[in-house]
Formats: sequence, C-alpha cells, structure tokens
Amino acid sequence: MPIYGPAFTANPHATYAVLRSQGAIAPVEIAPNVWGYLTTTYRAALHLLRNTPNRFAKSPHHWQALATGQIPADSPALMMMQPRDNALWMDGQDHARLRHAITSSLSRIDTHALSTTVTTIADQLIDAFAPSGTCDLVGQYTDPLPMLTMIELFGSPPDIGQRIVTAISRLFDTDQDAAAANSHLEIACLALTHLKRRTPQPDITSWLIAAGLTDEEMVQTILLVIGASTTPSSNLIANALQRIITHGRFAGSVHDGIHPVSDALDEVLWTDPPVSNYSPLYALGHQTFEGLVLQSGYPILVSFAAANGDPTLNIAPGAYAGNRGHLAFSAGVHACPAPDLARVIAEIAIERVLDRLPHLSAASSQLSRRPGTFHSGLTSLPVHFQPAVAPTGR
Ligand code: HEM
Repeated sequence: MPIYGPAFTANPHATYAVLRSQGAIAPVEIAPNVWGYLTTTYRAALHLLRNTPNRFAKSPHHWQALATGQIPADSPALMMMQPRDNALWMDGQDHARLRHAITSSLSRIDTHALSTTVTTIADQLIDAFAPSGTCDLVGQYTDPLPMLTMIELFGSPPDIGQRIVTAISRLFDTDQDAAAANSHLEIACLALTHLKRRTPQPDITSWLIAAGLTDEEMVQTILLVIGASTTPSSNLIANALQRIITHGRFAGSVHDGIHPVSDALDEVLWTDPPVSNYSPLYALGHQTFEGLVLQSGYPILVSFAAANGDPTLNIAPGAYAGNRGHLAFSAGVHACPAPDLARVIAEIAIERVLDRLPHLSAASSQLSRRPGTFHSGLTSLPVHFQPAVAPTGR
C-alpha cells in the first residue's frame, strides 16, 4: 500500500488500520517505486527502536535499492532517507560520540532564558500581523518561530542567520536547485563555526566546538539540529493551535485557562504526532517479529502515528493529558534529545497567541496538509481575531 499521496495524507489512520490487519510490520510503497516496511503497532515500534543498533541499523548504507542506484534522484524519499554524515544516520561509537556532543550542548541551555527568547520572538512576529485582524498562523508564525529560536540558540549573527534560513527554505522547495541551496547552507554553517572558534560565547555552536567536533562535523551537526527541530516544532504548534481553536473539547477552555496548554500538547503528541513515520531502520541479517520475516536491505519505517493509535493500547480520549507514554519523540538510542525544549518552545508559542489575539477563530474549514509520509502538519492555518489597536510598546 502507498503511504504517500493526497488520499493517504487526508486520512493516514485508515491506511494504518488496513496495514495493521496484515501484520505488526507490513510492506509499503514509501514513495513512487521506493519499497519498504512500516510498523503498525506500538510493540513493533518499540521492538525496532530498542534493538537498534544490535539487530537493526540506522545507517542507510544497508539500503540495497540505494546502493544499486534504483532510487530516483528526484524521489522525495531520498531527501529524508539518504545518508548524511551526522548522528541521525550513524550507528555504534560514531553515533554515541556525536550524540553526546549534542546532548551535552543542549543540556547547557538555560530554559528560563529560552522562555524569554521565545516570548520575544513570538511577540515580534505577532506585532507584525496583530493590527490586521487576520493572518496565516503557519506562514507568519509557527514556521518562522522555531527557526528564529534555533538561530538565536546557536548564537548566530543576523546576516548568517538569514543565509541559513533562506538556504533551508530553498532546500525544501522542490522547484529550487537543491544542490546549490545545500552548498549555500554548508557555507553559512561553516562561517558560523569559524566565527565561534574565534569568539566562543554561551551558545550551542560554541558548546559543540568545545565538545571537539571538526569543521565538517560542525556543519553536519548544525544542519541536523536545525533540521530536526524546526519542522516538527512548527507542526506541533500548528496542530495544537488548530485543535484549541476548533475542537469542541478545547474550544474556549484553553483560552479561559480551564485546560492548560500542556494538555492540548499531550493530546496532539498522542493523536497527531508531528513526525508521523520516520527512523528508517535496516534488519541486520535474518530478523523475524511475531512470525514475520523481515528482509534485509529494505528500509523499515517506524510509524509513531500508528503506534500511538494502536487500538490495543486502549487509551480513553480524556486520558492523554499528562501521559508521556506516546512515541512522538521516538525511543531508544536515537530518541529525540530535546523533548523538554520542544515543549517549552511550543507552550510559550501557543500561550502568546492566545494571550495576544482575542476572539481567535478559524477563517477556513478547508485546511491543506503537508505531504504526510514523514510529517503531520498544516501548510496554512488562516485565522481571524480582534485587531490590536495600538502597538504593545515592547
Ligand atoms: C515537537 C518537536 C519535536 C519532535 C516531535 C521531535 C521528534 C523527533 C523524533 C521522532 C526523532 C527520531 C528521528 C529518527 O530516529 O529518525 C528526533 C530526533 C532528533 N531530534 Fe527531535 N523532535 C522535536 C524537536 C526537537 C528539537 C527542539 C531539537 C533540538 C533542539 C531536536 C533535535 C533532534 C535531534 C538532534 C535528533 C537526532 C537524535 C539522534 O539521532 O541521536 N528535536 N526528534
């Protein structure tokens, strides 16, 4: 079954249900002519994630179709699944060393300072559209906010930050020259690295340098952390805002403080995880699971969305709040190293919108979604609200 295209994106859970009826791990077409497997249950997802790297590898060098040149160069799967020289795609000691550099750097972030940074960025973005009474919350708020926050956390001066932002958006624009965008991005990340080697400051770039990374490792790690943090955070903020604005369970009650924002985030992380299917893994030798034989050489995508929606978990709709058993941040050695930072960024981003934009309501009932193979998120969220009469004075 395909896990791409408009029908899948519109209702992925229908596909997960059919695939689940075939088995805990089912064969799928990931993109046109790109074949692999998808986990369909919570147990299968955990089995793979917890047995990486001893029984399943993360390195795409085990991907047979890639090694034999069968993946079309313009395949959307390639951008998301090809090998890159960073922690996400490595196994064993190489992964452990690079991941330790990342986790030790992220652990030095002062979450109080982060709150202030996110609040300032949120207010600047809101100031730009508050007087108009209408905006697209994705294009004008949830997309730029995580990107600007990460640029700040990396201690990037505005000119290099702007070059990074422009190159990343070109990279994800399919009609642009990806190779040129990639090289602009690498040059900008290298410029940032050289600047921080000369003048270290209390920021992620300087902490990664202090952890001993080479220039090449710095470039790839900056790309990984910015890439891994921005789209998922935007999806989380937008999915939660949409739910708060439109869902009967939340409409009004989060605005009024009856439900804290964190309850809405927990519900989204369970029912609409921002990274829906990812962590492609490769069976090392002969592997079976619940009687299924897993052919080596094919990517097995872990479905965080199908795992969270596994009916055998039997979680009542009201029981998501405070329940962190979901797999939205993955699990095992490659689990997201920053779930707490992601929550801080998302909570503040949502609170600022609710505080600053009174009488917020959806301007359209037809919302378009990003292609759903790997991500679950909106491409736009048009809203109306009461226009702000005067600037806030910040
Ligand atoms: C809502 C926000 C976020 C979600 C849902 C999310 C989810 C995930 C998931 C599912 C993975 C595993 C991917 C895989 O194994 O292929 C991952 C990995 C990762 N995430 Fe996040 N993430 C979020 C925010 C962030 C933030 C804010 C940062 C950094 C500040 C970050 C940094 C990373 C890194 C570096 C990895 C790779 C870890 C490794 O391979 O060892 N993420 N994230």
